[in-house]
Amino acid sequence: MKSSPLAADRTEQDDRAEFRAAVLDGLAGSPRSIPAKFLYDARGSALFDAICELPEYYLTRTETGILRRCVADIAAVAGPGRALVEFGSGSSVKSRLLIDALEHLAAYVPIDISRQHLEATATRLRRDYPGLVVEPVCADYMALARLSVDVGAARRLGFFPGSTIGNSEPQDATAFLRRARELLGEGGALVLGADLKKAPQRLHDAYNDAAGVTAQFTLNLLRRMNRELDANFDLSAFAHDASYSEVESRIEIYFRSLRQQTVTVAGRSFAFRAGDRVLTEYSYKYDDASLSVMARSAGFRIARIWTDPARDFAVAYLEVGT
Ligand code: AVI
Repeated sequence: MKSSPLAADRTEQDDRAEFRAAVLDGLAGSPRSIPAKFLYDARGSALFDAICELPEYYLTRTETGILRRCVADIAAVAGPGRALVEFGSGSSVKSRLLIDALEHLAAYVPIDISRQHLEATATRLRRDYPGLVVEPVCADYMALARLSVDVGAARRLGFFPGSTIGNSEPQDATAFLRRARELLGEGGALVLGADLKKAPQRLHDAYNDAAGVTAQFTLNLLRRMNRELDANFDLSAFAHDASYSEVESRIEIYFRSLRQQTVTVAGRSFAFRAGDRVLTEYSYKYDDASLSVMARSAGFRIARIWTDPARDFAVAYLEVGT
């Protein structure tokens, strides 16, 4: 088992072609939507890091607090000699808590779609943990059912923090968890972060921050289309639009046209009336029952759940098998 520089199974051209197809498809559809994963180019990832620091966005600091308190319990339940596989590793801040706590860690496998982020993170981790085997995988972790790197016979412990699961619609979330169960294999387990249902106003505020960082994050998608798809979105003619649906238990985020206009993307024209919206993200919120149903329908059982005292956020330990 050796440490590879980067298991680069995707190229920049692949990324660009996939983005183009998804945008043209999504803008031609009804209702219009663009998959949330395209929000995370280099600037989008930096803006998301800034969102995590916002006073209104309680998710990251609450989850980190839970992890700090329960990481010894997680390590005890997981046992020694695991390979830690992180789905959507970003800057791997939270995974350091697990890397520090897990006994005889066999390898750390960060999976991320952003190559730049992944390379920078792998370099930092190798510097900070000289003995640690780091095997980065540049891929869309939502679609992965097998690892392209070798972690030997170590039992695998998945890590999917941040309530990123909530950015997928229920059937896609379950499909992802099924693939994750396959990837983690016999004896595998998954540490899953999930945001919990709460007062709608707090949820609304978390996605409509006073400083407007979340708005910049949404509108960065227009900037990305301008740059990568030769589009001509006027950023001042669109607005971030986020609200909580109690019926669906989800935040719904759009960019909304402020006037009648026509936009060209990759040579194709798209007409917008004032008020027309394009969906960019859902962010589902859970309770114990909905988490358990989701885990069970993907072939996991919830062995433990840790929360903060206010029950804002949950960290669940899912074991393969029902
Ligand atoms: C990454 N994900 C869990 C964030 C969320 O809360 O759904 C993405 C986000 N979008 C706007 N703010 C945060």
